[in-house]
Amino acid sequence: YESTVPGELGDPAVRAVEVPEPGAVTVVVPTFNESANIRELLRRITESVPARLPCEVVFVDDSTDDTPEVIRDAARDCPYPVTVLHRDVPTGGLGGAVVEGMRAATSEWIVVMDGDLQHPPSLVPELVAAGERTPAGLVVASRYIKGGSRAGLAGGYRIAVSRGATWLTKALFPRRLRGISDPMSGFFAIRRSAVTADVLKPLGYKILLETAVRARPRQVTEVPFVFQDRFAGESKSSAKEGMRFLRHLAGLRTASPVARMVVFGLIGATGFLPNLTALWALTSAGMHYLPAEIVANQFGVAWNFLLIEHLCFRDRRRYRHWWDRAGRFALLANADLVLRIPLIALLVGRAGLDALTATALALVTTFVLRFVSTEALVYLP
Ligand code: GDD
Ligand code: MN
Repeated sequence: YESTVPGELGDPAVRAVEVPEPGAVTVVVPTFNESANIRELLRRITESVPARLPCEVVFVDDSTDDTPEVIRDAARDCPYPVTVLHRDVPTGGLGGAVVEGMRAATSEWIVVMDGDLQHPPSLVPELVAAGERTPAGLVVASRYIKGGSRAGLAGGYRIAVSRGATWLTKALFPRRLRGISDPMSGFFAIRRSAVTADVLKPLGYKILLETAVRARPRQVTEVPFVFQDRFAGESKSSAKEGMRFLRHLAGLRTASPVARMVVFGLIGATGFLPNLTALWALTSAGMHYLPAEIVANQFGVAWNFLLIEHLCFRDRRRYRHWWDRAGRFALLANADLVLRIPLIALLVGRAGLDALTATALALVTTFVLRFVSTEALVYLP
């Protein structure tokens, strides 16, 4: 599982129990079939990190090629300890690998960087220095501040996707990502004391986002960098990785009960669209508006069910079969509608409210009821 090539810093068994050295750095590199990049990467790290900065490199590898052997071989020429953790079960993809590396790190600072030289190793000491100068627990290498650029991001398509993803992510987490211009960056330094690996639930590429949102480092600072061209090989990113990113966003956004309810409400609001469209189609086809209302409502329910399954309660689907969940969900959604009318009548008749206030109050009440009952009866054991 693990193999360490001791460098000049001594016996890894002794190193593992040592108190972290102040200012020292563990460089964590996730690798998936990067054999052609390893030698150059280690050479450039060695060249960049000054002798006074104690350094170790931890590769967390999920490769199916000979990358681990190449690392072990190249490590012999490296003055630092180099460790390869090869994972037999590569859970969490790139992010899962990085968290594994964080667990293994022994230094005060952890620098996370890609293995394909798109992240310039010359910046490693600068990221640590920027952190030492300030009380910051997290230092982000950013492409989007003065002095940085995304030169190596090939093609208008990738640039557009990257822009859109950055915008959406910043919009979803305005508070947690304050001060981070490039939450999509995979190049950053973090103080070991600022992150507990156990709070992280990595899912794919965006490990900085995961760390910033869940570990909540107190203070953040940024250093500009130029995203380089890949040295060798090709990107492992894919459309599947894009879908995983959306799931990651949804998982992060529904982490707290209140946030989950907000997402539930927002999804509910989008249900108007299929509902009204169906109503229009059915009445245009000649159906009486009352039965049409009932049928149209089912379109809204189906739409809401699909979105809620994937974006709101994705982590809680295992307790029931999908058809069981769908049935219960539909029942609750329709009960909500049926309940609202007598409730409004009660509020107007007994409590003496005007129709508008009564409707607003009924909407809020039935919404909360519906959220609580959906959670309890559909997405809990
Ligand atoms: N262990 C492990 N497991 N490593 C992986 C995996 C995996 O499943 N997938 C990718 N890697 C490694 C690659 O071998 C490489 O060292 C690094 O993670 C980045 O992978 P690339 O495939 O080169 O990613 P990219 O260049 O498309 O994306 C990079 O830039 C983006 C910014 O545009 C990454 O740094 C992204 O996080 C970043 O958002
Ligand atoms: Mn890359």
